[in-house]
Amino acid sequence: MNSDLFDQAVDILARNDKGTYTVPTHGLYPFQWNWDSALSAIGLNYINEPRAWTEIETLFSHQWEDGMVPHIIFHQEDDGYFPGPEVWQTGRPVPTSGITQPPVAAFALRRLFNRAKDKEAARTRAAALLPKIAAWHDWFFANRDPEQTGLVAIIHPWESGRDNSIDWDDAFSRVPTEGVGAFTRRDTLHTDPAHRPTQEQYQRYIWLVERFRSLGWDNSKLHEASPFRVVDPGFNAILLRSCADLADMADDLGETALAETSRARVAKGIAALEAHWSDKYKQYLCYDRAIGALIDSPSIGGLLPVFAPIPEERATAIAARLETLGNRVKYLVPSHDPDVEDFDGRRYWRGPAWLIVNYMIADGLARDGYDQVAARVVSDSVELIRIGGFAEYFDPMNGAPCGGPHFTWTAAMVMEFLKMTGEPA
Ligand code: GLC
Repeated sequence: MNSDLFDQAVDILARNDKGTYTVPTHGLYPFQWNWDSALSAIGLNYINEPRAWTEIETLFSHQWEDGMVPHIIFHQEDDGYFPGPEVWQTGRPVPTSGITQPPVAAFALRRLFNRAKDKEAARTRAAALLPKIAAWHDWFFANRDPEQTGLVAIIHPWESGRDNSIDWDDAFSRVPTEGVGAFTRRDTLHTDPAHRPTQEQYQRYIWLVERFRSLGWDNSKLHEASPFRVVDPGFNAILLRSCADLADMADDLGETALAETSRARVAKGIAALEAHWSDKYKQYLCYDRAIGALIDSPSIGGLLPVFAPIPEERATAIAARLETLGNRVKYLVPSHDPDVEDFDGRRYWRGPAWLIVNYMIADGLARDGYDQVAARVVSDSVELIRIGGFAEYFDPMNGAPCGGPHFTWTAAMVMEFLKMTGEPA
């Protein structure tokens, strides 16, 4: 029964609610994560509208002076996670990490804004958040696109939200491991190590953190200083969709200059994405800015652009590509093409399906009228939950639940999927 699923989702959101923010899941991820919070707010909105807004407000109350919104906010001490504040050493009043995550907040906020029952409260709260989100977007284009290409780079795999994607393997192999001291991972205490990134990847993750820390987290230096600089089409699609949503809200609130700047960014970014299109794979690819070459790796990062207003021809090709992938896996959408040798259906971002990405893809497909494939993504997502519970991610070949249990954003997405199937919420 789908109403049972909805009720279970409500329970999970309550279970992970810390009052003014949610944790992704207790144990494995005991703090506030950036894009988890933004997407989870959409779920919280079904239960308690003001609380949903608070989720995003809390995130932005930890924004840095330079405009960055960090990927983790360490609200309370908890030694169940590595690397904690003592590794990041960002010097913030409430400790945070020093890198960012996919900027999906403006998209989420617009969803809350459009659905608000209390329109007046929504206008007041949106008006207060708008300049903060705009400052974050400004930060991206100033610090992560110094040559003004229209697209931004990530400087750490964790920024992508797709931590150990096959996309990063080559670029990441250029990140050294020398000089990284001994450390004890905590993630593998909570979940099966076979589902997680490898030890060597963790050494490289930490090497980058130590490099950025040695530069005092000065964002005007980090892009150039990082041996890892990748332009991820999925990440940029999220940013561009958020710019478009910010522009719409700005128009509603009479902020026409902001609307114009944001729309100009969308136009420039979408045009720049064309250079990422691969006729071989019929999808977009990542670009390794450190060596100036496209990365020959067909991942979900190259399908996610359908979330943004890409040209119709590209959206049609992605819809067709999803149908092809749908014949290869039992449950859409695999985070990597299963025909690639390194595909691993259980290892985090190297194959598994993640409901948050499914949601953004389904949203873009439905908006552009690709109803059939959108419906497949939605029904596969609901089916995964029905058989495996609210897991962190799923094996797309057989639906096995993987990673941590009781995931906040998984629950939030299920509420949205049920709404998309026309189920009562
Ligand atoms: C993992 C995921 C990332 C997510 C975080 C918290 O690091 O790769 O996308 O934000 O967990 O759920």
